[in-house]
Amino acid sequence: MASCNFYSVNFTASFLNPNKPLTSSPNHLLLNSKFSSSHSDSPFLSLHLNQNLSRTQFRKSKAAPSFVVFASGEKAEPLRVMISGAPASGKGTQCELIRTKYDLVHVAAGDLLRAEVAAGTENGKRAKEYMEKGQLVPDEIVVMMVKERLSQQDSLEKGWLLDGYPRSVSQATALKKFGFDPDIFILLEVPEELLVERVVGRRLDPVTGKIYHLKYSPPETDEIAARLTQRFDDTEEKVKLRLLTHNSNVEAVLSLYEGITIRIDGSLPKQEVYSEIDCALTKLHEQKQAPLGSLAA
Ligand code: AP5
Repeated sequence: MASCNFYSVNFTASFLNPNKPLTSSPNHLLLNSKFSSSHSDSPFLSLHLNQNLSRTQFRKSKAAPSFVVFASGEKAEPLRVMISGAPASGKGTQCELIRTKYDLVHVAAGDLLRAEVAAGTENGKRAKEYMEKGQLVPDEIVVMMVKERLSQQDSLEKGWLLDGYPRSVSQATALKKFGFDPDIFILLEVPEELLVERVVGRRLDPVTGKIYHLKYSPPETDEIAARLTQRFDDTEEKVKLRLLTHNSNVEAVLSLYEGITIRIDGSLPKQEVYSEIDCALTKLHEQKQAPLGSLAA
């Protein structure tokens, strides 16, 4: 199990006033010492953090601090996350967990398309032809669908978690042109032999939207088991076609996000996969909480 130790120390605007005590959140630590102004010997307040927060010490020090916190009263930028991987690599499963903790808007290209198919729209009818063959739905349908969802107020305010998009260089380029740049690109890596088993055993709860697997994440009650449904493209034959499409596009897409990509072993149990993702997102979140450049080592 991965472990990560990041501490939230988000100073309020009072940091800028040398006569006021410092406050921090969300750990609700109150610093009763006064901030030393730039006229003092050391402009830094050193924070000495132990794992046990009750033993955390804050003191002024002439020694070089182990890290420096800059303060800002501005609202933190929301997270913008992309998650990618082969069919059934666990994107949707991880998105449920990420969304619960980080309150991001989950935008799943496949779910948007299935909603169009279910509604019987023209786009839905066209999309279904491609989905049945495991091919990419044309850009003129997918790109605008995703762009519109990301442009909604909740996505702009809370941040987004984009699942299964982009799947081609043209989709990535289009998104960039519209000004949607991710902070992180998460790639779930799962050996192909596991993917077929995951697909054929997958079931969905139409009431809660929760993803189950008959073997790995069975339904909690008989009532839930009785209402589970299966996706129309969840057959062995179709997942192999989806896999071919994925394999022929993934490297080109990855090359566009090299500097912000993290690769995670998606064959581990889902909580372990999530632990890795959570560490990376926690760190990113901390960096964004202090937009003037905190935590410089
Ligand atoms: P989409 O719906 O995105 O399908 P996909 O990419 O094939 O991915 P899946 O949804 O099948 O899998 P997942 O990675 O979310 O896995 P899950 O968490 O459910 O796309 C469908 C189609 O739409 C495409 O083929 C294409 O035609 C079209 N499309 C979509 N996006 C497009 C785009 N951008 N451009 C053009 N066309 C597009 O997990 C799977 C199963 O495994 C579950 O049962 C789960 O319980 C289990 N599981 C998950 N994690 C674990 C674990 N760690 N251990 C054990 N079991 C696990």
